[in-house]
Amino acid sequence: ATESQEAAGFHPNQKLKLVISVGDHSGPMRVLVTGGSGLVGRAIQHIVKEEGGGKEGEEWTFLSSKDANLMNMEETRAVFQKHRPTHIIHLAAMVGGLFKNMRVNLDFWRNNIYINDNVLQAAHEVGVVKVVSCLSTCIFPDKTTYPIDETMIHNGPPHESNFGYAYAKRMIDVHNRAYFQQHGRYYTAVIPTNVFGPHDNFSIEDGHVLPGLIHKAYIAQKEGKPLVVWGSGTPRRQFIYSLDLARLFLWVLREYNEVEPIILSVGEEDEVSIKEAADAVVAALGFKGEVVYDTSKADGQFKKTASNAKLLRYLPNFSFTPFNKALKDTCDWFVANYDTARK
Ligand SMILES: NC(=O)c1ccc[n+]([C@@H]2O[C@H](COP(=O)([O-])OP(=O)(O)OC[C@H]3O[C@@H](n4cnc5c(N)ncnc54)[C@H](OP(=O)(O)O)[C@@H]3O)[C@@H](O)[C@H]2O)c1
Ligand SMILES: *[C@@H]1O[C@H](CO)[C@@H](O)[C@H](O)[C@H]1NC(C)=O
Ligand SMILES: *[C@@H]1O[C@H](CO)[C@@H](O)[C@H](O)[C@H]1NC(C)=O
Repeated sequence: ATESQEAAGFHPNQKLKLVISVGDHSGPMRVLVTGGSGLVGRAIQHIVKEEGGGKEGEEWTFLSSKDANLMNMEETRAVFQKHRPTHIIHLAAMVGGLFKNMRVNLDFWRNNIYINDNVLQAAHEVGVVKVVSCLSTCIFPDKTTYPIDETMIHNGPPHESNFGYAYAKRMIDVHNRAYFQQHGRYYTAVIPTNVFGPHDNFSIEDGHVLPGLIHKAYIAQKEGKPLVVWGSGTPRRQFIYSLDLARLFLWVLREYNEVEPIILSVGEEDEVSIKEAADAVVAALGFKGEVVYDTSKADGQFKKTASNAKLLRYLPNFSFTPFNKALKDTCDWFVANYDTARK
């Protein structure tokens, strides 16, 4: 049996049994963050380095695709052997907005399957005691009842627009349950709703809705043109600020001891329509022009309202940054960093 199996109360040839000590590890953690250069990775860097989220003696390493192409198993093994992490936050993924998903479902499926299989297997091989991977609420079944909760991930096909990404992400949950069953590993996952914040990719054509809107409104303002919002404006979304998500990631890494995933989201009552989000962007940027809706563009899934009841059972007092404040901070960051921002 591996060290972690023994720590978890496992012995070879023994059936799964209830475990008391979880992902046991004495001594300071060495945390490796894949996708550490992205929106969520940069937010975790900020909380660890600037807001006291890291602890004495811990080592934090933030990887980008320049350190290793995680689609390649040899490069993945090499970078894990180099850093020998005890804990991993796995963020690296091929991500994109609705329109890119609709064009290249095959690439989303294959690339994410490779990345996730390599990261989880290499983690197991170097003896990582805990991995926290990242799913997304857009992987839930399209036809469902609301609110959606953690038990419903596999209950039917995802929305057809992003089925490649969705099925690849769902398989992380299959990996996690199997690594637990076969090797006693505590590899788990979180399920955030739409994330936004500083260091996002503000691509208009292929990006997510909020950063795309911010970028479009910025340009429309500059050129004195109308802001054109794609779709009808009626779909509804829950948005989580990247810095709130980062704080929650640290809690999951340190305290959350289930293999089953946990939804990290604002409440159902905080869901906003795309029109409300556009109005908030207009207010945050002080945009003075006209706002028009291009209904020839697809709307995507109408809603995917998620329940944060499980999170609130663990953290009844967690306080989310108010949407308008988080959006204002994000717009201010984008304006101040326009030249270097990803877009
Ligand atoms: N953004 C959202 O609304 C949202 C919502 C729910 C869940 N999520 C999940 O949250 C996680 C982080 O997303 P994000 O928004 O922070 O993404 P992001 O800003 O696009 O960052 C993606 C990260 O993955 C890295 N990466 C991509 N392909 C790679 C490869 N082949 N090898 C190594 N690294 C690779 C990128 O490295 P480079 O910087 O070098 O390219 C970057 O650090 C993802 O798992 C995503 O599915 C995001
Ligand atoms: C931003 O996202 C777009 C669309 O996915 C992508 O084409 C572009 O390469 C990204 N930019 C950076 C700097 O990652
Ligand atoms: C939450 O806040 C209430 C009132 O402020 C306090 O009594 C309670 O102890 C807090 N609960 C936790 C888990 O921190």
